[in-house]
Amino acid sequence: MRSMTALADNAAPPPDHQGPPASDSAFAHDLVAALAARPRSISPKYFYDARGSQLFERICELPEYYPTRTELDILRTHARELAALMGPRAEIVEFGAGSLRKVRLLLDAMERPARYLPIDISGEHLAQAAAALQRDYAGLEVQPVTADYTQRLLLPARLPGAGQRVGFFPGSTIGNFTPAEALQFLGAAAQVLRGGALLLGADLVKDPAVLHAAYNDAQGVTAEFNLNLLARANRELGASFVLEQFAHSAFYNAPWQRIEMHLVSRCRQQVSVGRRSFQIEEGETLHTEHSHKFTVAGLHELARRAGFRPGPVWTDEQRLFSVHWLQAPQEGDAA
Ligand code: AVJ
Repeated sequence: MRSMTALADNAAPPPDHQGPPASDSAFAHDLVAALAARPRSISPKYFYDARGSQLFERICELPEYYPTRTELDILRTHARELAALMGPRAEIVEFGAGSLRKVRLLLDAMERPARYLPIDISGEHLAQAAAALQRDYAGLEVQPVTADYTQRLLLPARLPGAGQRVGFFPGSTIGNFTPAEALQFLGAAAQVLRGGALLLGADLVKDPAVLHAAYNDAQGVTAEFNLNLLARANRELGASFVLEQFAHSAFYNAPWQRIEMHLVSRCRQQVSVGRRSFQIEEGETLHTEHSHKFTVAGLHELARRAGFRPGPVWTDEQRLFSVHWLQAPQEGDAA
């Protein structure tokens, strides 16, 4: 069985192969690599096509999914204190541009914010979000940056006369990284934010039952979000996934302090992506997401190792979620 799979996996497309341009995409490349590997694993960044972003917005409204509303409450409650820490004429660099609801809470409280730089891989989503924000904040310079912030962090030069540069990374997206990747990302952020700070949202460790419910909602929206990765491959890459033959699986891995999401094959099946074909056995999984949970002490340790100086932390009364002010020392300053 394995040798057949290996043969199919290694079969090169014929030299005259002229697939659709999409088959050359990073998604096509990474999906093929994921299906050929053991264990099979793909980056959660591929969840977010237009449909996936829509499903994620619905997740944020679910009764079981506490992170979004809890973080919004924390930001709302402490907006004035945050604005004071940011100071006048600050600029906000947001890693990933979501619904923009969160940054509005900051902008509304800040003293004459100078510039907002949202960084996102989806240029289309970013342009729309940026335009909507620009309409509401006439005096603000909105400058979207289309880039994959997990790959490299390059920012435009600072504005003359501007205040602090403050990074904003809400939603516990940091939890999607492995600890090593998180350290690398935070290290790069500490560099580009030198002399400023990072405002970071991090989901906290808690009762596994609460975590389990948040990723296994009664309406099945999270399952649909997970399965959308396969639906997207069918739409964009002409892949042949039969969605009914895969099950959503999300569970809390307590020793690793993370929710893991997988797509589990319900039967032995053959799938194709472009001209590549793969056999998947019953019960085998494609790992689609890690969502790490943190303790305040653990996050501070990580931040220190990355070169930040941890400042104030805000949480909700139930200690479900945390928001951290992490100072990025000026070069030469001891962290
Ligand atoms: C956007 C990565 C923070 O990990 O909770 C929600 C994504 N996955 N439900 C998370 C997600 C399943 C979310 N993050």
